[in-house]
Amino acid sequence: MFFVRTASERDLEKVRVLLAETWHATYDTFYGVEKVNELTGRWHSLPALKSRLERKNAEFLVADDGRNIGGMGYAAMSDTLKKTVVLHQLYVLPKLQRQGIGRDIFAELETCFPDAERMRVEVEPQNLHALAFYRAHGFSEVGRTSDCGDASGLPALILEKPLV
Ligand SMILES: CC(C)(COP(=O)(O)OP(=O)(O)OC[C@H]1O[C@@H](n2cnc3c(N)ncnc32)[C@H](O)[C@@H]1OP(=O)(O)O)[C@@H](O)C(=O)NCCC(=O)NCCS
Repeated sequence: MFFVRTASERDLEKVRVLLAETWHATYDTFYGVEKVNELTGRWHSLPALKSRLERKNAEFLVADDGRNIGGMGYAAMSDTLKKTVVLHQLYVLPKLQRQGIGRDIFAELETCFPDAERMRVEVEPQNLHALAFYRAHGFSEVGRTSDCGDASGLPALILEKPLV
């Protein structure tokens, strides 16, 4: 049984491993192994994860069963968009997907930002499972970008969900 709680520094190595495994399972077919290694090495290093943990106006959550971390989620208020919280990461280990862990993490993240009027997420256009998850949770498409995240050069659909 997994429960959702705030992440701590002690969790970060497990989160790093979870992200590497889940990223390869999700994105290797779209981007290739090398690109995934490059991005996950850059975005999910321990220093990168630690700086997210320390960021203000942000929530870093994990799903924990007492021994293992089965999923993680990270959202932060946007620096540039008014009253918008950006869901930067939501990842569940492949073997634990479709058991409600993503839904539980998302439900918690949704309640953490009382000042936000909307939540935004960028999704790889070919990632149909994630798109199905977000549509089932009230998101709809508002645009596209050709550079998802931090200088990735990857395209993404931009989805939003009203929170009020
Ligand atoms: C997308 C993800 C976070 C969803 O988490 P999850 O724990 O697997 O999903 P849940 O079991 O909580 O699903 C909740 C609902 O979302 C929808 N959903 C989730 N996965 C789906 C899929 N593969 N296909 C269709 N609908 C899906 C369903 O409505 C589901 O409810 P149901 O199982 O009662 O039908 C998870 O599958 C994941 O980590 N995927 C790989 C990484 C990824 O793409 N992350 C998002 C990056 S933007």
